[in-house]
Amino acid sequence: MNLLFFGFLCFMLACSPHDSNQETRTMSTISLPRPNLSGDISIEETLERRRSVRTFSATPLSLEEIGQLAWAAQGITDAARGFRTAPSAGATFPMETYFLLTEGEDVAGGVYRYLPHDHALELVTEGDQRRDLRSVALQQESITDAPAVLVITGILSRIEPRYRERAMRFMHMEAGHVAQNIYLQGVSLGVGTVVIGAFEDDGVRSVLGLGDGEYPLYIMPLGKLP
Ligand SMILES: Cc1cc2nc3c(=O)[nH]c(=O)nc-3n(C[C@H](O)[C@H](O)[C@H](O)COP(=O)(O)O)c2cc1C
Repeated sequence: MNLLFFGFLCFMLACSPHDSNQETRTMSTISLPRPNLSGDISIEETLERRRSVRTFSATPLSLEEIGQLAWAAQGITDAARGFRTAPSAGATFPMETYFLLTEGEDVAGGVYRYLPHDHALELVTEGDQRRDLRSVALQQESITDAPAVLVITGILSRIEPRYRERAMRFMHMEAGHVAQNIYLQGVSLGVGTVVIGAFEDDGVRSVLGLGDGEYPLYIMPLGKLP
């Protein structure tokens, strides 16, 4: 009887869907510098200066700047519970963040996924994908003008079991928190950005190699002010 139960358990484990919360380090993982926890500008001044920016300097962002922005988006601030810089409904953490990076001193061009627990970037696809991304976002030039582009996505299966028909709404709310963190961190770094909501979902999925259950929510071009 026990053997039967053990066999059933193994079968269930083998059949369980891939846990996309799990982070696996590969050879193509880049460790990011530790985030700076003190800045030169007050939160009030940061809020006052926040503005959408659509033209950028061509200078690639440094690994420090990318790391700081990734941390602002989804960095772990309570290791014991896995809590992050942005709030998450029921701590279900459906958000994923991808960086489309151009060739820089510290990093090869490509699409990278941020691994919050490792504070690292995992290479997803090599090469500059910004032109393809722009073509599925109404040809918005801010995407190719920026040396880096952040894409915020949400994985519905992480949040749906708990929140059912409210899950999609909550996922959109979470994307807003993440995006505002990026805007404000950008002000502090001298990095401009804009939230882009006008794009074709399937087109973005195809450029980033996402599955059907992962929803692109915002595109955010990132670059130093010109
Ligand atoms: C949900 C949403 C979608 C948006 N989509 C786009 C977009 O596709 N392209 C763009 O250039 N700006 C987009 N924006 C940015 C707004 O145009 C911008 O926030 C607005 O003009 C106010 O300017 P400010 O952000 O500098 O205060 C979007 C903003 C929001 C909140």
